[in-house]
Amino acid sequence: MAHAVVFPSWQVSRNDYGLICDYLSLTPENAIHERLLHYLAEAPFRQGPASGFAAYLAQLRLTPFRIARLDLVTKRLFPAHPFRQMINAVVALHECDGEGYAELSRAPSAPWLLPSLGAWGVGLVLSVSLTLPWLLWHGAAYALSSRAALSLDLRGKRVLITGVGRGLGYDLFILALEQGAQVIGTVRDEAAADRLRATLPATAPATIVAADLSVPGRLATTLEAGGVRPDQIDLAILSAGTKRDGASLLEVSALEATFRVNFFAPAELAAWLCPGAHDAVLVLISSIGRWHGMPFSGGYNASKAALSIWADGLAMERAAGATSSCHVLTVEPGLFASAMVRLTGLLRLLAVPRRQVALRVFAAAHQRRAVLRYPAGFTALTWGLCLAGRAVRTRVLATMKGPGDQ
Ligand SMILES: NC(=O)c1ccc[n+]([C@@H]2O[C@H](COP(=O)([O-])OP(=O)(O)OC[C@H]3O[C@@H](n4cnc5c(N)ncnc54)[C@H](OP(=O)(O)O)[C@@H]3O)[C@@H](O)[C@H]2O)c1
Repeated sequence: MAHAVVFPSWQVSRNDYGLICDYLSLTPENAIHERLLHYLAEAPFRQGPASGFAAYLAQLRLTPFRIARLDLVTKRLFPAHPFRQMINAVVALHECDGEGYAELSRAPSAPWLLPSLGAWGVGLVLSVSLTLPWLLWHGAAYALSSRAALSLDLRGKRVLITGVGRGLGYDLFILALEQGAQVIGTVRDEAAADRLRATLPATAPATIVAADLSVPGRLATTLEAGGVRPDQIDLAILSAGTKRDGASLLEVSALEATFRVNFFAPAELAAWLCPGAHDAVLVLISSIGRWHGMPFSGGYNASKAALSIWADGLAMERAAGATSSCHVLTVEPGLFASAMVRLTGLLRLLAVPRRQVALRVFAAAHQRRAVLRYPAGFTALTWGLCLAGRAVRTRVLATMKGPGDQ
């Protein structure tokens, strides 16, 4: 069975593997890439997460130029860096292969020895003189941008995330594991739980729980039955959500079903989690769409408006010294690719990478922020539309969806 890239910061796609092989003058082989994926899937749990500037460097997309720079930098400064694990594993696996061993042990014949040594020395000087400014440039970019705040370490934290079978929940789940957390992920049913478990290495500290959030009280009772207590959770991210495109706001059964998953399930989980004597962070994934209505979406925007406003009030109860012991972070994302949205035309340009949303959610939770709206441009567009008045808003949004649209 072909393995997939599960942990993007640690594993290499077929294309990245090809680039590393080009750099090392090796011939890529599918069988070695398969073994590499398998071996590197365990790497986050052998090594522990990269943090700070090292984590920033691990997020860079690999190119031939960056591979040469990362090779030098990680060899000297970050020996446990994910890139070092990748490149060392590529060398080790090719060494065990007949053709790879021949390629790696190729040495220049006697007349070419001195010229080869000279070329190697010139190459090294050139590489160092390119790498130093590159490193300074990225060091400055890291220090000046908000990315410095994006590297986080979840070692020793117990994180609960809902809807981890796909979409944002899946990215949050993978990122939490990469960052060293023990993760309890929830999916809808046992079949989805088995599918997800099959993709993870046995060493991954993950517990997958099946709970249909459309059933009242199901999540808390399933967690309790699995021996999970509220005081064991440091961070809970309620990402699961549903949208019924095409369903009119007058279809009360669709409204109820939407509110059950998007509003009541998070509220029930908070009622289970927060009265405990600990200081957990509760992250509610709402939507920037909560600021305006949307036709034929089964009440999706209305359910997110309810969630955001409810969270606002819950934070006030905490500030007033009431029973809630959770810090509440409300996340109102703009657009990102998932099964929930159809990204056509301009919408494709407005969408942000899902992993970036996931990174920012963890960073905001770590900083104990009250609200995260990302990206800022989409928030500005949404608020602009709201400020433009009801007539403009209705003209723009009324045609976005029609009855029966999927
Ligand atoms: N995509 C966007 O542009 C966007 C923008 C703003 C906010 N959001 C919010 O971001 C969150 C993640 O959405 P996404 O875009 O990643 O959507 P997605 O890919 O459709 O994921 C939704 C997740 O929720 C789970 N879920 C839905 N109903 C459930 C139920 N009854 N029981 C258990 N699990 C259930 C799904 O599980 P199954 O796989 O079993 O269906 C899936 O894992 C949602 O709260 C969404 O409202 C998304």
